[in-house]
Amino acid sequence: MALKGLLRASMAQVRVLNIDDSVHFYRDVLGLVEVGRAGDKVFFKGYDEFDHHTFAIRKADKPGLDFLAFKVSDNGYLDAFEAKTKAFGLPIETIAPNSDQPGYGKRLAVSLPNGHRIDLFVDVEQAKQTPGLHNPEVLPNGKLPVGCGCIAFDHALLFGPNSAQTVKYFREVLEMGLVEVLKAPDGNGDICSWLTGSNRPHDVAVLEFEQPGKVHHFAFKLEDWNHIGRCADFLTMNDVVIDAGPMRHGITRGYTIYFFDPSGNRVETFAGGYAYYPDMPTRVWDFDQVGKGIFYYSRRLQDNYLTVVT
Ligand SMILES: [Fe+2]
Repeated sequence: MALKGLLRASMAQVRVLNIDDSVHFYRDVLGLVEVGRAGDKVFFKGYDEFDHHTFAIRKADKPGLDFLAFKVSDNGYLDAFEAKTKAFGLPIETIAPNSDQPGYGKRLAVSLPNGHRIDLFVDVEQAKQTPGLHNPEVLPNGKLPVGCGCIAFDHALLFGPNSAQTVKYFREVLEMGLVEVLKAPDGNGDICSWLTGSNRPHDVAVLEFEQPGKVHHFAFKLEDWNHIGRCADFLTMNDVVIDAGPMRHGITRGYTIYFFDPSGNRVETFAGGYAYYPDMPTRVWDFDQVGKGIFYYSRRLQDNYLTVVT
């Protein structure tokens, strides 16, 4: 087992305007499993995940992302990440076990230079409903999944200023791989970077943006292109506002649909993409090829892509 350190983007908490509409959307349409409720929050997981929950919604006045959490392999790495974060100069706080997230052990909350918060953690209880472990069926409990059948939390695209420093933190402190970059229009530096801690094609991407702490989208995983198509059918049957797709990205080579939750958060269902290994070189996109990088088939950057965020 060689995969150590930062394992994956494994949980996010998102702000929503209405709990009932959001539960219907995430549970009945996207097919996440509702794990429980506490106060103004509802907790979910994908059917193919083992952790207590991997997605939380919180009722608030404005949509957006409260934080993105990364699972770390062991406490030796967590302690090292804490020390290196302090040496890097970023604020870091300890969140007590079983406080705002049931089932979760100690988390370290880091304030990134782009205005986002990420949490780092090792310990989380196993969910009651997990994929089979003994002579398992391919589907949960031998039943077809609900709705779009999202199987796991996957990644997020974070917008904000100081993206070069943010990428430096992800690379130097959390030891993430830089998978792909989009160069700035003038060719000086990168305006978007895709990073991974695992062999997913990305766990997180960051784009240079004037306003801090904005989220472009967060994504849930589907198995393949067929499931992307079935998800698009199901979104349409449920009158979900589709932003783009079904389509393919040139960047990561993933299959994708972008759409909006009832609060206006952009959500993605994502499948495929190549497997990344730490010995791979970074793939580079020139800005005049951004249309092809994101909208591979139409090769045209959609007007709202870089401006509509929450
Ligand atoms: Fe994405």
